[in-house]
Amino acid sequence: MQLLRSRADLQQWRRQAALLHFVPTMGALHRGHQSLIERGVEPVAGTRPQVLVSVFVNPLQFGPDEDFARYPRTLEQDAELAAAAGAAALFAPALAELYPLGEAELTRLQPPDSLQEVLCGRHRPGHFNGVATVVLRLLGLIRPDRLLLGEKDWQQLVILRRVIADLGLPLEVVGCPTCREDDGLALSSRNRYLSAAERQSAAALPRALRNAHARANPGQDLAAATAAVRAELEAAGLVVDYVEAVEPHSLRPRSQLQGLTLLAAAVHCGPSRLIDHLFLMSRQPIVAIDGPAGAGKSTVTRAFAERLGLIYLDTGAMYRAVTWLVQNRGVDPADAAAVAPLLEGLDLQLSTAAAGSQRVRVNGDDVTEAIRSPEVTAQVSLVAAHGCVREALTRHQQAMGERGGLVAEGRDIGTAVFPDAELKVFLTATVAERARRRALDLQQRGFSVPPLMELEAQIAERDHLDSSREVAPLTQAHDAEELITDGLSIEAVIERLVTLFRTRVPQEAWPDPAR
Ligand code: PAF
Repeated sequence: MQLLRSRADLQQWRRQAALLHFVPTMGALHRGHQSLIERGVEPVAGTRPQVLVSVFVNPLQFGPDEDFARYPRTLEQDAELAAAAGAAALFAPALAELYPLGEAELTRLQPPDSLQEVLCGRHRPGHFNGVATVVLRLLGLIRPDRLLLGEKDWQQLVILRRVIADLGLPLEVVGCPTCREDDGLALSSRNRYLSAAERQSAAALPRALRNAHARANPGQDLAAATAAVRAELEAAGLVVDYVEAVEPHSLRPRSQLQGLTLLAAAVHCGPSRLIDHLFLMSRQPIVAIDGPAGAGKSTVTRAFAERLGLIYLDTGAMYRAVTWLVQNRGVDPADAAAVAPLLEGLDLQLSTAAAGSQRVRVNGDDVTEAIRSPEVTAQVSLVAAHGCVREALTRHQQAMGERGGLVAEGRDIGTAVFPDAELKVFLTATVAERARRRALDLQQRGFSVPPLMELEAQIAERDHLDSSREVAPLTQAHDAEELITDGLSIEAVIERLVTLFRTRVPQEAWPDPAR
């Protein structure tokens, strides 16, 4: 592993790194930092990245009464631990290397107040300005493809994600789960300040949070929950800076448990200030994927759901199932009044069979294959446009979503069915790209292929109809992430979805089943 001490060394080394992942640290490395490095060396689409670790005790992020002077500086040992975890280089600049004109002359960054007014920001004024300033300075010098940060410093992760997004920097930010000791204490460089007795008391921090987690229930009053944690921490002799419950991304305070909620605390234990958090959930996560026809939603949604251990809720199959029922009962599919009675007491079951394939049952009949027939395909749009059908199936889908733990795909999923989904994605592709895919599909299935211009016109017309129809028009939810899939392989789209999911739902709240 290369030890780089100057910007010149860094620039020289940087030239040979094709895919570079970056782990910034203040040194005093431990297993938590090593887990970031190990995550960083994992191949991306078959390419092995190099990991660069920085060690720099950044004065800008310490308050006047904080531990800058005595912060552990253990470069030799850091180099050994970084190398053992697979780092290719360690950048350990002196102060003058990083801030050559001095601190007074430095351009500083100021992340939004709303993200700094809570949690640690309120108790450490200027801390996150200092963090953002140094990290952006390092990113400018290192120009990595990916930045890996610990979820342990959740507020730091949220703030850096925002700063990087606001400045439009072309890199991915990956959060990695907290590493803990056997008794639950989160690993931290500051744990080494603790005496044996303090170390024992420190375990009360994760314990109090875990107890709150065990007591959590949907709709719970969070003021009472945080007060209970505070009392438990104080009883263990810890001096509490804060115990707060907030929405994990905006960091806005939450008074009732709904969706994913961050419960975070900071305490003083002897000479150390310790932080920790966990996530409370009123239900398991929901991902809503909408988008125009022909953007490849079903294929990627199914695979994405499997990757994350979520259930795939194929709402299209539900509309097809109702269409099948309408046809099977000989009802006119255009006649809403005749269709409505079929929806009363409708028993519609979706179940996942081996290898992620889904079985569909209507009133006890297995219609998995039947709903893919050309007859159903020809009439599903007509049936799905009836208000009574939309309402019945929306109710059905919402009931299925009560426990969460699913990825739902459909035309109005993010807007009408699950407006409070943790992640909403508008999966789309240009008309030209969808026409190209349609042509390929027709060709592969042995059908004659109309000219591309004709396919494009048909797709544009369908988009227009879908977006302008009265019932459940296709619209992009205001808080949906747009994912344009032109030129991306299916695997690459799934990767992007997983990355988006992880920006909304951390590993700690919903771990990857494969990891
Ligand atoms: O998390 C840390 O160790 C520091 O805040 C960081 C990101 C290295 C910036 O100095």
